[in-house]
Amino acid sequence: MGTMEQAAPTAVVTGATGFVASELVKQLLEKGYTVRGTVRSLHNESKVQHLQRLGKALPGKLTLHEADLLKEGSFDTIVEGATYLFHTASPFFIETSNPQEDLIDPALKGTANVMQAAAKAKPQVKRIILTSSVAAVHGEYAASPKNGHLYTEEDWNETSTIDNQPYHRSKVVAEQEAWKFAKSSGLDFVTILPNFVLGPVLSSRADGTSVGFLKGIAEGTPAQGTPLICDVRDVARAHVLAAENPRAAGRYIVSHRAPLTASALSKALQERFPQFAIPDVPEQEYDTKEKIDNSKAEKELGLQLMPAVTTFIDGIVTLVQLGIAQPLPSGAPEEGTPAV
Ligand SMILES: NC(=O)c1ccc[n+]([C@@H]2O[C@H](COP(=O)([O-])OP(=O)(O)OC[C@H]3O[C@@H](n4cnc5c(N)ncnc54)[C@H](OP(=O)(O)O)[C@@H]3O)[C@@H](O)[C@H]2O)c1
Repeated sequence: MGTMEQAAPTAVVTGATGFVASELVKQLLEKGYTVRGTVRSLHNESKVQHLQRLGKALPGKLTLHEADLLKEGSFDTIVEGATYLFHTASPFFIETSNPQEDLIDPALKGTANVMQAAAKAKPQVKRIILTSSVAAVHGEYAASPKNGHLYTEEDWNETSTIDNQPYHRSKVVAEQEAWKFAKSSGLDFVTILPNFVLGPVLSSRADGTSVGFLKGIAEGTPAQGTPLICDVRDVARAHVLAAENPRAAGRYIVSHRAPLTASALSKALQERFPQFAIPDVPEQEYDTKEKIDNSKAEKELGLQLMPAVTTFIDGIVTLVQLGIAQPLPSGAPEEGTPAV
């Protein structure tokens, strides 16, 4: 390194193999960025292949680098000379028997390592953009003590613990530590707080939480009400806008304000995918009273969200196309109906 930055900025994206990060890498490459993606292993074909192909197809330049969230100094040389640092790597799953080791440690230590790398690379690093979550804004959805409260970027999740919603807790502690570190080190820092992220996938792996949820819907699991969601393309765009807009500051929620009802979703999917057996879901009350104010990202970043139905449809198309989901065909003979 050590050379002057060219016109296109250099960005580091941690956890480049992930669902959200892959879309972010794609959008940065489309804009001509030089992207340094960090991965756990360069030799895991099934995780890195789609990135290498994006790198070949798109105008920017992509290099992949091994880095470990738990290893001190792991990100130092990768961050050196970069303009933007997008830290998305963090474990995202809900069930675990060892929340400290599986969720909290990688979230917290990983964020500390990445922030320290940025502090060492100052002043080239113009801004750090952390992928936090609405999970860091509140926990306990329907049962929340603040049920009915309009959540904003001012709110912090104070109810989740290591035993109850450890993933949520991992996002709270990681974001809080990052804010503390950024302030004490004078780093320019913003956070993106997506709600449940769905939409098109780029990789054919199926182990992510978001991908698993969408696969269930595509394969006919009747949605029991839908969560508040956002589109992965909007989430990635929010990251880019938050990096590029010099006035961006603080936290940015990325979320629809109201969920699609399960019945509206099943109707929309039945219409779009008449070839698949998508079950009817009776009209029902919203199962979430979660209220989210998403206006800051719209006002300050100019972020416009795409319709939630588009997110489900485009997501399912990619899952089928990549062989991740195998929806049942519609019109299959009902039980006891003789096949002719
Ligand atoms: N999806 C959502 O609904 C959602 C909502 C809000 C916020 N977020 C946040 O968005 C970020 C990305 O999530 P995602 O949905 O894209 O999840 P994902 O597809 O599971 O990606 C997670 C990424 O983090 C990496 N990672 C996980 N544990 C790691 C560890 N111990 N050491 C090194 N790398 C590790 C993964 O590496 P491997 O590929 O090697 O596994 C992967 O690159 C996370 O910070 C998550 O909290 C997600």
